[in-house]
Amino acid sequence: MVSLNQISARAELERLRYQIEEALEDFVQKRLSQPDAPVMRLVSDILLGGGKRYRPVLSVLAYQACGGEDKEKALNLALSGELIHTATLVHDDINDQSKLRRGKPTLHTTTSQSHAIIAGDYLFALGFGLGGHNDDRVVERIASTCGGIATGEVLQMEHIGNLSTTPEDYYAIVDGKTAGPFASACWGAAIAAEAEIYADSMDIFGMELGRAFQLVDDLLDLTGDPAMGKPRGTDVHDGKMTLPIIHALTMLHGSEYEHFTDVLTNFSDERWGEFTELIGKAGSLQYVRQLIENHIERALNALEELPESRARTLMAELTKMSERRRT
Ligand code: IPE
Ligand code: IPE
Ligand code: MG
Ligand code: MG
Repeated sequence: MVSLNQISARAELERLRYQIEEALEDFVQKRLSQPDAPVMRLVSDILLGGGKRYRPVLSVLAYQACGGEDKEKALNLALSGELIHTATLVHDDINDQSKLRRGKPTLHTTTSQSHAIIAGDYLFALGFGLGGHNDDRVVERIASTCGGIATGEVLQMEHIGNLSTTPEDYYAIVDGKTAGPFASACWGAAIAAEAEIYADSMDIFGMELGRAFQLVDDLLDLTGDPAMGKPRGTDVHDGKMTLPIIHALTMLHGSEYEHFTDVLTNFSDERWGEFTELIGKAGSLQYVRQLIENHIERALNALEELPESRARTLMAELTKMSERRRT
């Protein structure tokens, strides 16, 4: 049952998302009349085309929940994060040879790999340009977060198809590529709001929510929904060692273990049924659901360190909603 309070919180979150869309559109429009217009034309579709805007919404709310009052400053920081996030998606899709992103054909398939590399670099530069208006510590954090994303991606590549990958390896990858940017968005918002005392709590909150977010993503890859905007089973195809797979490898024994490793190493769409049956037997989906709940609970506990406010309530609502997201 969804309560009236939840309905009004969701409407407010939707309004905030809309404000971020508008700010992004303004940002794009301004550059379409400047000398860099040819590159902006290249990236405008992916930038404006249907991202969930999770990180920028959180960033604005964290800024407000920490007592910040300069909406423009909050939006600049939020857009900076979204530009950098979109840059990583454009480059990630080249690496993963993905055909679909945000429900549309990927940039490197509609243009070329060279165009997509330049487009991603351009988005990174724009993101740093906007983020650079902040305190030095925020700028340094944005840079180290980008270093963490790159490290996570490299670690992930090194573990492709490696059936001995441990949960620790998995978390090192996820903390770099997903949780780090969530933490950076929330920590940076606290610093921008000059609320140093809440910075650590915002860091932990973002980190825990980011871990939950990636675990939900891993489950969605297995349970699939056409609304995702990317095809089901991609992680399995790519040999990505997601936590449900790592868990199943530790739980299955004897002939079932042999069967599972054979499915993983010789995977094709026809083997999807065998794959899901073995993952089901191992109880891996329930295991990951439990971990998601734990991360969400830790995120909510960290959030409690902030004084009560409407923004804090909305952050809590968004955190709970992330557990049930379908896209
Ligand atoms: C995709 O992020 C990459 C992950 C870390 C799972 P999102 O799921 O936030 O992608 P958009 O921005 O909504 O497209
Ligand atoms: C997302 O990584 C991109 C980064 C965070 C760098 P993935 O490859 O795991 O995510 P999807 O499935 O393409 O969105
Ligand atoms: Mg990837
Ligand atoms: Mg990918």
